[in-house]
Amino acid sequence: MTIWFDIATGLNETVAAVAEQLEEFDETFSPEVRQADPRFGDYQANGVLPYAKRNQKNPRALAETLIKSLVDSGKIDTAQIEISVAGPGFINFKLSEAFLFEWLKKFRTADDYGKAAAQRLKGKKIVVDYGSPNSAKQMHVGHLRSTVIGEAIKRMLAYFGAEVIGDNHLGDWGTAFGKLILAIKRKNFKLDADHDDPLAELEALYKWGNKLTDEDKAALVEAREELVKLQEGDEENVAMWEAINRISSQGFNKIYSRLGIKFDYELGESFYRDKVQRIYDELEETGVGEESEGAQVVFFPDHKRYKKQPFLYRKSDGASNYASTDLATVLYRLEAFNAAEIIYVTDDRQRDHFAQLFITVDRWFKAKGYKEPELHHVYFGTILGEDKKPIKSRSGTPVLLSDLLDEAVERSRKVVEAKNPDLSEEEKSNIAETVGVSAVRYADLMQNRSTDYIFSWEKLLSMEGNTAPYLLYAVARNKSIFRKVGVSEDSALEKASILETGTEVALARKISAFPYALELAISDLRPHLLCSYLFELSGAYSSFFNADHVNVEDLAVRDRRLLLCKQTMIVLETGLELLGINTLDRM
Ligand code: ARG
Repeated sequence: MTIWFDIATGLNETVAAVAEQLEEFDETFSPEVRQADPRFGDYQANGVLPYAKRNQKNPRALAETLIKSLVDSGKIDTAQIEISVAGPGFINFKLSEAFLFEWLKKFRTADDYGKAAAQRLKGKKIVVDYGSPNSAKQMHVGHLRSTVIGEAIKRMLAYFGAEVIGDNHLGDWGTAFGKLILAIKRKNFKLDADHDDPLAELEALYKWGNKLTDEDKAALVEAREELVKLQEGDEENVAMWEAINRISSQGFNKIYSRLGIKFDYELGESFYRDKVQRIYDELEETGVGEESEGAQVVFFPDHKRYKKQPFLYRKSDGASNYASTDLATVLYRLEAFNAAEIIYVTDDRQRDHFAQLFITVDRWFKAKGYKEPELHHVYFGTILGEDKKPIKSRSGTPVLLSDLLDEAVERSRKVVEAKNPDLSEEEKSNIAETVGVSAVRYADLMQNRSTDYIFSWEKLLSMEGNTAPYLLYAVARNKSIFRKVGVSEDSALEKASILETGTEVALARKISAFPYALELAISDLRPHLLCSYLFELSGAYSSFFNADHVNVEDLAVRDRRLLLCKQTMIVLETGLELLGINTLDRM
């Protein structure tokens, strides 16, 4: 019988194919195979019950007919997978030791995993719009989430074979530049001189300019004039604007390189400034947009929430805004990248913006006959301090992302120092950098993204629980086993005999559920589902490791246990890499 990479999907397709041949089932039937409560089996088809209900049939009888045909079809060998009806009409599948063992042997190397996984979304063009900080402002802790969640989603999609384009949609255009340019001129700030931290200085200048224009009407007028000059291509102002963006990017890149992040494109808002006219024209021509009090807007008269809240995409002074550039961005991604899907990763305060953007695109693309990409807004909550308020530094300003990472590294350095005093200074620093950055990153990813969470140093650096240090330690321990036994990690482990102990079987079960965990994480675009899985896998590995000795004389036993260690390591390393986390050989 077939050994599928993702067993749930394999079972689902097999059951669906068999049902298709049966009179009792029509095309509305879907098997809905999911992971089962482990007391009853490994996987469970939940689809018979609702189908029977809709068609007023007896679910148990239907389930029995389906099982009989499944067995008769020979597509599932009941010696390998036990099938039974449970409750009012669920179908349970229990994997045998033999099946699990075959699975482990079929998917032996990281390469086997990668090839199988890459079938899932083969060639699908997906744009992930993430990171996206605003020019002239240092990244603060709020930017952590978009950056690390977006990167994890991008990597998971790519692992599934999608052609992913990571695009950093920088906020590099707009009214802020008028104030900033005014401040730079008034303070006679030299953009091209050597500054210790030029981005921090720009941020301070912007704040100064903002305050000035709040208090002084004449200054506000002047800032507007600077902006108009910039928009009209005035040489001096354009050169300043370019320098500001250069300084900003240099600052952002320091953090990106620390996080191992490379964008394929950085097409900021400014890139679309000559592309908005077409948007105004097409929205007007199709009647999707209209004029209201001098501005251009889209109305949603039938929408419950947006009935009284139109989507403003051109200001009354004729200027573009966040909505116009975002509309132009969707069209560009369709035409230049042929995107089949676009995923936006921002905080949850932008939910209305994206909801309105998506409805507008839907109407406009339908009217024009454009191929509409799937649009998803992956939103996330706020990082809170111990006082349950958005996390702030001691002085009450947002915590800078670079400071946060520095502190994480400093704190892990102390842990490394205590654990491994004999390592060289260089090794200690490397380990501390990896552990610190990973710990912050993982603590963010392991939270269900749609909720707020409380940031706690103690929790995220703990060696116990669902943390990066715990998982990194599991990998390092695993590596040390191969060193101790004196067998290479790439060894074929030919002598491995079939699984025996309960802890071996439980670990094999967990390992074989990796593709399913990834599937869940991707279908919901929620990296924390992968984190939970990796944590459970480490738990199963720990239990196995404590119960079953690996380095035994009987090579048939030793090799099968090493095989389990190896597969655990492949899954942990692959999973952590997908989350953007580097592993360590020693810790
Ligand atoms: N720069 C924006 C911000 O800081 C995020 C941009 C998100 N992407 C987009 N296409 N709107 O809030």
